Amino acid sequence: MMLYGDLYNGLMWHASLQNMRPTTSLLLALSTLHIVFANPPSRTVQDVEHASCTLKALGSGRDDSPRFLTAMQTCSTVVVPTGTTLNISARLNTTGLSNKHLNLQGTMRFDPNIPYWSANGFPFTFQTQITFWILGGRNILVDGGGTLDGAGQAWYDAFASNSSLLRPITMTLFQATNVVVQNIKMVNSPEWFNLVNEGKNITFSGVTLTAASTSSHRAANTDGWDIYRSDQVVIRDSVIDNGDDCVSFKPSKLVSVLLTSLTEPKDSTNVLVSNLNCTGSHGISVGSLGQFAGIFDIVENVTAVNIRMSNAQNGARIKAWAGPGVGSGIVKNITFKNFIESNVDNPVVIDQCYMTNATACAQFPSNTFIQDIFFTSISGTSSGSTVAKLACSPGARCSDINVNNFSLSAPSGTAKYTCQNVNLTGNAASLFPACTVT
Ligand SMILES: *[C@@H]1O[C@H](CO)[C@@H](O)[C@H](O)[C@H]1NC(C)=O
Ligand SMILES: *[C@@H]1O[C@H](CO)[C@@H](O)[C@H](O)[C@H]1NC(C)=O
Ligand SMILES: *[C@@H]1O[C@H](CO)[C@@H](O)[C@H](O)[C@H]1NC(C)=O
Ligand SMILES: *[C@@H]1O[C@H](CO)[C@@H](O)[C@H](O)[C@H]1NC(C)=O
Ligand SMILES: *[C@@H]1O[C@H](CO)[C@@H](O)[C@H](O)[C@H]1NC(C)=O
Ligand SMILES: *[C@@H]1O[C@H](CO)[C@@H](O)[C@H](O)[C@H]1NC(C)=O
Ligand SMILES: *[C@@H]1O[C@H](CO)[C@@H](O)[C@H](O)[C@H]1NC(C)=O
Ligand SMILES: *[C@@H]1O[C@H](CO)[C@@H](O)[C@H](O)[C@H]1NC(C)=O
Ligand SMILES: *[C@@H]1O[C@H](CO)[C@@H](O)[C@H](O)[C@H]1NC(C)=O
Ligand SMILES: *[C@@H]1O[C@H](CO)[C@@H](O)[C@H](O)[C@H]1NC(C)=O
Repeated sequence: MMLYGDLYNGLMWHASLQNMRPTTSLLLALSTLHIVFANPPSRTVQDVEHASCTLKALGSGRDDSPRFLTAMQTCSTVVVPTGTTLNISARLNTTGLSNKHLNLQGTMRFDPNIPYWSANGFPFTFQTQITFWILGGRNILVDGGGTLDGAGQAWYDAFASNSSLLRPITMTLFQATNVVVQNIKMVNSPEWFNLVNEGKNITFSGVTLTAASTSSHRAANTDGWDIYRSDQVVIRDSVIDNGDDCVSFKPSKLVSVLLTSLTEPKDSTNVLVSNLNCTGSHGISVGSLGQFAGIFDIVENVTAVNIRMSNAQNGARIKAWAGPGVGSGIVKNITFKNFIESNVDNPVVIDQCYMTNATACAQFPSNTFIQDIFFTSISGTSSGSTVAKLACSPGARCSDINVNNFSLSAPSGTAKYTCQNVNLTGNAASLFPACTVT
């Protein structure tokens, strides 16, 4: 027997007794027709917990966030149907969930009320960020082909005249475990698109990210993903066109990230192929690390494979701070493999004197050790003459740096390779001149 009723205006719910659950398509068809029993049977909490709810916009300039929050709390599946644009005007705390499916076919648009969000976005002390939405808990699926619209244009324009403006990250996975985000689009985030904060076993796939400003003001700091203090994160089969890092591995206590796709024959669980196309970004970046005194940063076991990088500032990059009063850390076992680059300012980079001048870097070498790094099969073109720049801090801070199968060219003239304070191994080491020692 089926029960359905009007939970509140615009949100339809339906529940079935567990052993008589009708098909999803039937439920969706019924909800779209807004069938409401005149005298709905009384509902129990258990019924509602098993319900699939369809949430449509209230319209008329009203805020849909309270109803979105209620739906996420009470229904196991929340459908935002095609053609609906939810107006999200207040911050979303959907943490502590379990077994939830957000089937986003329509759009969630974050109303660009700048004074509201800069005062009320959920704050993160790490790099002084705020976010529209914290999503957390266990066993969460977000899919449906719909769109998260950060309505960033107003933010890009406001930031141009206020460089200390706090701009919200679109979606933050906050203390989340076993999460899949797939087949969705994200557009015009005011700041980073995705932050994974203290997450475990998180997969993003089939995600399309686009940040484009229509004014002369850049879509600044629109990182695709920032991974912070998280473990077992997969990002694959996605297309990114943005104005900052495509993916950035921020300092972590424990990180093991596969930036890959799983489409290759699974003869071994570690044979993986990726498929990430990044345009206009600042590259795949590890770091910056070792910035804050007293903090030890770890980034370990990262594989970024099959990446197309176009019109970007960097391709494969590791950056760490040196100089007086900085922090410390370790970057270990990082593989950048099968990168195809086009018009990239710095196709291959280690910068261990990040934001530090040569004198200060020599006097105060980086405390962030970089070891077991593999740059393998890197091809394509740079925008300038230098195609690879591996600048390590003095004091043997970099070790076991492997370069293989490079096929990089400059737009004109001879491609330049530079290195300092590092011994390189691999078949592309001969492309580099004797490394300078500082
Ligand atoms: C969204 O809701 C807010 C608050 O009610 C309202 O000010 C704003 O105009 C709405 N936006 C849209 C596009 O309806
Ligand atoms: C989010 O909501 C949960 C549950 O109500 C609460 O415990 C938590 O403090 C909230 N988080 C934030 C950052 O407000
Ligand atoms: C700039 O943004 C900051 C942080 O959001 C805010 O405190 C400040 O009032 C803004 N300044 C102006 C001139 O709007
Ligand atoms: C990781 O999450 C996925 C999706 O929720 C789940 O199917 C898988 O069992 C989880 N893996 C582990 C090791 O828990
Ligand atoms: C990336 O671009 C290549 C070449 O155009 C294409 O074959 C591949 O499917 C694209 N990947 C994705 C995830 O769209
Ligand atoms: C890195 O991977 C190795 C081999 O699988 C594992 O022993 C090690 O614990 C991992 N490190 C971290 C920080 O997860
Ligand atoms: C290096 O990291 C990869 C995952 O990115 C992992 O499969 C491999 O076991 C790690 N190797 C070592 C020696 O820890
Ligand atoms: C280099 O950096 C140090 C420390 O930040 C600073 O004191 C010094 O003036 C800088 N030197 C130059 C040449 O910029
Ligand atoms: C470099 O390319 C050759 C020829 O394709 C291949 O056999 C070799 O395994 C590659 N080296 C690495 C380190 O991947
Ligand atoms: C490079 O190798 C030489 C010979 O083993 C060693 O003396 C030197 O310290 C190494 N340099 C670095 C930067 O590791």
